[in-house]
Amino acid sequence: MYNSTVMEHFTNPRNVGEIENPDGVGVYGSPVCGDMMQIMIKVEDEKIVDAKFKTFGCGSAIASSSMATEMIIGKTIDEALAITNKQIVDELGGLPPVKIHCSVLADHAIKSAIYDYAQKNGKEYAGLEGFD
Ligand code: FES
Ligand code: FES
Repeated sequence: MYNSTVMEHFTNPRNVGEIENPDGVGVYGSPVCGDMMQIMIKVEDEKIVDAKFKTFGCGSAIASSSMATEMIIGKTIDEALAITNKQIVDELGGLPPVKIHCSVLADHAIKSAIYDYAQKNGKEYAGLEGFD
């Protein structure tokens, strides 16, 4: 059911945990099932220099958060905001169709963390409409 990249990120997830004094914290829960993901980011000069996650969800959600944190570290805020859940799924080499929605948690948790950073620093970014 799962390809080797997904299995690898599930069994050996990157960037699990919390950041001390994060610049942004995002939590996103699926309205359907209640599964939840938290992503913390550290930002320097508009660049995400660190990211950590905690996920209460299935293997796909854990693999998606692991991959998503890998994808945003080193990116600018704008670049990170441009990442879609489809790109996360593509980087994972695909997820089973019934599990695609789990990757949406990661995409939303990233945006929620950036929204938090923006709020705290009086910044505005395109692509954060509807977050709070
Ligand atoms: Fe709930 Fe994937 S996070 S099924
Ligand atoms: Fe909840 Fe997959 S069942 S996110």
